[in-house]
Amino acid sequence: MVYLLSIISHMDNSVEKLIKKIPKAELHLHIEGTLESEMMLSLAKRNNFELKYRDAEEAKRAYNFSNLQEFLDIYYEGAGVLLQEEDFYDLMIAYLSRAKDENIIHTEIFFDPQTHTSRGVKFSTVITGIRNGLVEGERRWGISSKLIMSYLRHLDEKDAFKTLEEALKYKGWITAVGLDSSEVGHPPSKFRGVFERSAREGFLTVAHAGEEGPLEYVKEAIEVLGIARIDHGNASHRDREFLKKLSEMKMPLTLCPLSNLKLGVVKNLREHPLKIFLDAGVMATVNSDDPAYFGGYLNDNYIAVAESLSLNESHIKKLAVNSIEASFLSKAEKNALLERIG
Ligand code: ADE
Ligand code: ZN
Repeated sequence: MVYLLSIISHMDNSVEKLIKKIPKAELHLHIEGTLESEMMLSLAKRNNFELKYRDAEEAKRAYNFSNLQEFLDIYYEGAGVLLQEEDFYDLMIAYLSRAKDENIIHTEIFFDPQTHTSRGVKFSTVITGIRNGLVEGERRWGISSKLIMSYLRHLDEKDAFKTLEEALKYKGWITAVGLDSSEVGHPPSKFRGVFERSAREGFLTVAHAGEEGPLEYVKEAIEVLGIARIDHGNASHRDREFLKKLSEMKMPLTLCPLSNLKLGVVKNLREHPLKIFLDAGVMATVNSDDPAYFGGYLNDNYIAVAESLSLNESHIKKLAVNSIEASFLSKAEKNALLERIG
């Protein structure tokens, strides 16, 4: 039996053990994407919100998507139950509690204010709940964090400017701005003005690019938006010259293997470009994106990709080191965390 299991599982047990115990950072996580169906149902009940699912199983069954847009439709619908400050707080605590169990020591979290303000929820309600959750998570479990406010790219730039105006009061709580939602047809250049203004206000910038969209969008995100990190960036892997450039620039990529699998960005994980990026010296990291919808949190992503791409212990260590190096922590803070990896 043990022999049989060892043939079925291609991955060395010591790699899985290392994945679970190594301290690491998560840099690409949408807090709205951590809303488990059980919590969705309980928040709907608490808020007297009429949800179209009768129970958590029915909600889970509806998580049936084969591309980004099909997923986003379900994700925005689920986020409808988030109405009060305590909902955002509870959501954050639930994620951080899992993060602690996975040895995540630092996390940089996206939130999409427009998903909520468009439904009449105040910006202050969203950010205060999230912020209080992050402070409590650090107090309880010592997990440090940064917050990234993401503009929805299917909306127009004017709407993003309005969101930036609201964010200015909370500058001390927000480290960076990002760009997410439906990619194709909404190139980074559509947001040139608001990214320039965000940078002038002191925010760092990141953007989803090359997830479903073309390599051109990745180039535009770097050249036009001046981003410090690429979210996904999968479309870069076939261009050798560009890989060299990414490596020379030390431009981090926040890859999300299980998300890519569930959204049809890759047909199977053996085709995932993570190893191509690592072999080319690109600062690739592994992340979970929207774990409640994609069937796995951070360690599940590491394990799935380690198994499919036959990663060894030194790959895992490199990914953990990259996750700290690619973060928005100061040099001294990074050094302190890197020491914990050993
Ligand atoms: N918002 C939440 N998850 C996303 C993803 N994977 N791509 C673009 N926008 C998102
Ligand atoms: Zn994402």
